[in-house]
Amino acid sequence: MRFPAGWSGFLRVLTAHPVGFLGVLLTTVSFVLFAGLFGLELLGLQRNPYVGILTFLVLPGVFLFGLALIPIARVLQARRERRGVVVDLTESEQQRRVVLFLLLTIVNLVVLSVAAYQGVHFTDSNRFCGEVCHTVMEPEFAAYQRSPHSRVPCVSCHIGPGADFFVRYKINGISQVFAVLFDTYSRPIPTPVHNLRPARETCEQCHWPEKFHGDKFLVKTLYDEDEANTERKTVMILKVGGGGAESGYPSGIHWHTSVENRVRYAAADEKREEIVWVEVERPDGGKTVYTKGGREVPDSLLARSQKRLLDCIDCHNRPTHIYDSPERGLDRAFASGRLDARLPGLKSLGLDLLTREYPSKEAALAAIPMELDRHYLESDPETFDAMRASVRKAGEEIQNLYAANIFPSMNITWNTYPSHLGHEENSGCFRCHSGEHVSEDGQEIDSSCETCHSLLAVEEEDPAVLHTLLAE
Ligand code: HEC
Ligand code: HEC
Ligand code: HEC
Ligand code: HEC
Ligand code: HEC
Repeated sequence: MRFPAGWSGFLRVLTAHPVGFLGVLLTTVSFVLFAGLFGLELLGLQRNPYVGILTFLVLPGVFLFGLALIPIARVLQARRERRGVVVDLTESEQQRRVVLFLLLTIVNLVVLSVAAYQGVHFTDSNRFCGEVCHTVMEPEFAAYQRSPHSRVPCVSCHIGPGADFFVRYKINGISQVFAVLFDTYSRPIPTPVHNLRPARETCEQCHWPEKFHGDKFLVKTLYDEDEANTERKTVMILKVGGGGAESGYPSGIHWHTSVENRVRYAAADEKREEIVWVEVERPDGGKTVYTKGGREVPDSLLARSQKRLLDCIDCHNRPTHIYDSPERGLDRAFASGRLDARLPGLKSLGLDLLTREYPSKEAALAAIPMELDRHYLESDPETFDAMRASVRKAGEEIQNLYAANIFPSMNITWNTYPSHLGHEENSGCFRCHSGEHVSEDGQEIDSSCETCHSLLAVEEEDPAVLHTLLAE
């Protein structure tokens, strides 16, 4: 091979020692691979997260290692020749080498900064967060993709802006990588996520707490577990409210997070379910402290729980990783017409199929449509014949519900991650609004039903209020 003047001498010097040869080999090969894969990435031809790891993390590492070997080789070579590293700039050969060395250094710096930038970008991508540790993240990634935030990058909520958190989470990330490698992570991942960044610095980058949402008119449709799958409706006006600062005195449910108010609380358990101490700080500086049952709360507990400032995530704990309950999942599928309510007893059969024990997820997904077919064929062959298409559709729909909510590899089943946005199972709002929290002067945290919503109909078959509203 012929090199332009200076190159061959330069290369000869670099590779004189075997370590130098290795260094040049590693940098060259990793550079060529990096450039090629990065090119494919830019052209959108490469989407595999593992190849991404190779491109943006492994290859730049090899490149850097190769570069580091070169000066080491120079020193080793000099030692072998029993002389120091001499640079004589009066010699034209040496001058050319120095120029080449500087040029290559610039190229290396460019390559390394592109790699570093892309590497950071890549480890921030949904692809990296959601797909690399597939088993661990599969449930959250699946739930996220169906959610209202499916276009919001994981890092907007999990890291947020600013360099300090960026570094903190990357360091934290390293221990997570080890947990995955050595299979020591918890299944399911425990919640609440205690080191999640406060919502002020994540959610509130997109949603303003000052915004007044007003009242929200809600119609919830549910279906009985009887032969007719009887449809019922709950109609309510939910007082979401909010506001404060410019937009007026805060009220309603979003009163808690308005800029004027500070609500802090302490929980006796890791899950933050058993809230024993709540403090409200009002705009005029006045404070009220409520404790569960009016009992004194030990200082050690207050210190341990750090008196958490209530923020969006204390209610919206499932803004994007939204799991269904079997009842609600089926109700929604009926309401949207994906399940045919004319199929006799479908709600109760669906519930039964969704909550049975199966040897594996695959077995469940295979059994669900088969069991449905069998049930209708045996109990009512005429219906089965007439409604074959609906039965098949129901099989798929119930399969989908199962697939989206049950992840045996992570021990995630129904109700592993309950939502705090209501008071099913007496959790959510009722952690504080159960009427048990009392202040020193005997005030209670309000628990009357009207505090949060006006119920216009509760589980009625044909609510009169809807007729009134819809009448011309
Ligand atoms: C809209 C904001 C938001 C986005 C976007 C988001 N998350 Fe989350 N995530 C949260 C919140 C809030 C929690 C904390 C839930 C809790 O503490 O109960 C959480 C919790 C988690 C958990 C713990 C287990 C669980 O279900 O609570 C994992 C794992 C997770 N997120 C992964 C991801 C991944 C991967 C992505 C991107 C594919 C992502 N998240 C995108 C808000 C978000
Ligand atoms: C990067 C911007 C962004 C961030 C960060 C973000 N959101 Fe959102 N959020 C959105 C957008 C956009 C929508 C509207 C989605 C739509 O209507 O399709 C939305 C919708 C919502 C809704 C209404 C959901 C519904 O069912 O209609 C809630 C509640 C919400 N976000 C809460 C949160 C919470 C809590 C956090 C923090 C954990 C958060 N958001 C973080 C952009 C964001
Ligand atoms: C005390 C509990 C609570 C807190 C704290 C809270 N929210 Fe909400 N939020 C709710 C409830 C309940 C709803 C109504 C849910 C529904 O529509 O079913 C709601 C609705 C919303 C909506 C949808 C409004 C609409 O018009 O549909 C958005 C967006 C939202 N919240 C964002 C936030 C953000 C951002 C924060 C933090 C600044 C926050 N919330 C704090 C309970 C809360
Ligand atoms: C950590 C405890 C806590 C939780 C959880 C909580 N709240 Fe509250 N809430 C309070 C306290 C404290 C007050 C104010 C009591 C007072 O006036 O001193 C309050 C007040 C309210 C008010 C009246 C606001 C006004 O206009 O003055 C509404 C409405 C409300 N909460 C709804 C909800 C809803 C809905 C949820 C669940 C999604 C919820 N809260 C969860 C502690 C909590
Ligand atoms: C602290 C606020 C608060 C109080 C007090 C409260 N609720 Fe609710 N309630 C909510 C919220 C929030 C939801 C959920 C709305 C949603 O799903 O978006 C809800 C939902 C409901 C639902 C619909 C259930 C469903 O999801 O299908 C019923 C019924 C209901 N409440 C009845 C009551 C009754 C009866 C009382 C009085 C004993 C009461 N609530 C007290 C906040 C409250």
